[in-house]
Amino acid sequence: MVEALLPAYAEPLFAPRRYKVLYGGRGAGRSWSVARALVVTAAASPRRILCAREFQKSIKDSVHRLLQDQIALLGLPGYEITDREIRHVNGSLFLFEGLRHNVKKIKSLEGLDVAWVEEAEAVSKASWDVLVPTIRRPGSEIWATFNPDLESDPTYQRFVVTPPPDAFVCQVAGDDNPWFPEVLARERAYLYAVDPDAAAHVWGGACKQVGGAQIMRGKWIVEDFEPDPTWDGPYFGADFGFAQDPNTLVKVWIAPGALPGSSGRLMVEREAWKVGQDTDVIPVDWLTLMPDAARHTVRADSARPETISYLSRHGLPSITGVEKWKGSVEDGIAFLRQFEQIAIHPRCSRMADEARLYSYKIDRLTGDVLPEVVDAHNHLWDSVRYALAPLIQRSGTGVLDYYASRAGQVLAERDAHREDAARG
Ligand SMILES: Nc1ncnc2c1ncn2[C@@H]1O[C@H](COP(=O)(O)OP(=O)(O)OP(=O)(O)O)[C@@H](O)[C@H]1O
Ligand SMILES: [Mg+2]
Repeated sequence: MVEALLPAYAEPLFAPRRYKVLYGGRGAGRSWSVARALVVTAAASPRRILCAREFQKSIKDSVHRLLQDQIALLGLPGYEITDREIRHVNGSLFLFEGLRHNVKKIKSLEGLDVAWVEEAEAVSKASWDVLVPTIRRPGSEIWATFNPDLESDPTYQRFVVTPPPDAFVCQVAGDDNPWFPEVLARERAYLYAVDPDAAAHVWGGACKQVGGAQIMRGKWIVEDFEPDPTWDGPYFGADFGFAQDPNTLVKVWIAPGALPGSSGRLMVEREAWKVGQDTDVIPVDWLTLMPDAARHTVRADSARPETISYLSRHGLPSITGVEKWKGSVEDGIAFLRQFEQIAIHPRCSRMADEARLYSYKIDRLTGDVLPEVVDAHNHLWDSVRYALAPLIQRSGTGVLDYYASRAGQVLAERDAHREDAARG
């Protein structure tokens, strides 16, 4: 059965739709799946298929070879491969063209059933404007596969931000590919460890962030750790959402830093993140994930006193609202950025998302980064600020003062711990 030879997400490729779009991180199986779906369909009944990309200097740049390989792998009879085309005895035909600087040729192609645009992130608005009205037979389809680059790219805008009617648009990544190659799995793990921003783009399929606007840029890493008895904490912080915003809880620690005079490392050990949660299930969810929140102070968004009151009577006796002041967000950010580093446990995937996405506004005309925080991707960051609220000072110098007073004790504790460890 053909379906068994494709990842589950590829099934809709066989049902009629005007647009079929697969996008996301590397190695998801998009190219193979589309190639297989097309050679199988064209072997079953006559189809004229244009395989297009923005630039094609020679047939070597095209999916000609990929289609040929898939025909061989599937053992499909009836195909004839030539230098420039692929034909089937039933009359099916695959053509290969570049879109840019090729308007006349594209416009002259007639009776196309399918146009597959590969590496579509590079396709310009002008090329789409020529291609789309060329694909005009009744029931004809436009397929696109791509790795997102910038959110502002015409292809991303056209299919992901404002998808047209009758479109199957699906984001897929390596985890969706049952045959994700081992060599890619190793590359992916490595990049997530050393450069999570880059990894989220390359492997996660996220659009590139406009670098300077990222609030936590260069401050954080994803790191596997076990809390150590010498650390300060744990500290718990919670934020409440209305409608589309999640309820969140985080558990963090402060670990000694590696550098002399360090302000320490902030360790994010656990997160809870859920949208549309009724108040009565909050304590159940939170205490399942973080049972020790029942025994610690939990510092929370003070905008929801009724929720805080409910939680204090249902399993979180020491939950308390946190004072806000004008500039408390900025002071909190300055405080967090004073840590030597922020380590996010790999299980805290929402925290890593927010670390990447929490950003300053950008001027629409000049592209300048503005001193104003975008009110999004901030739920876990707010929770972290609340968790550490007693340390944050209005001047924004909290952690330095805190560590100036604690440094001697922390270092002594750490040395004692190391001696214990050395004694075995
Ligand atoms: N149906 C399949 N059967 C066996 N292996 C497959 C199948 N689909 C994909 N693979 C394996 O997964 C790899 C990645 O697939 P593919 O190149 O189609 O991904 P992609 O999403 O197009 O990636 P990229 O973003 O790099 O273009 C292939 O090289 C192949 O090894
Ligand atoms: Mg591909």
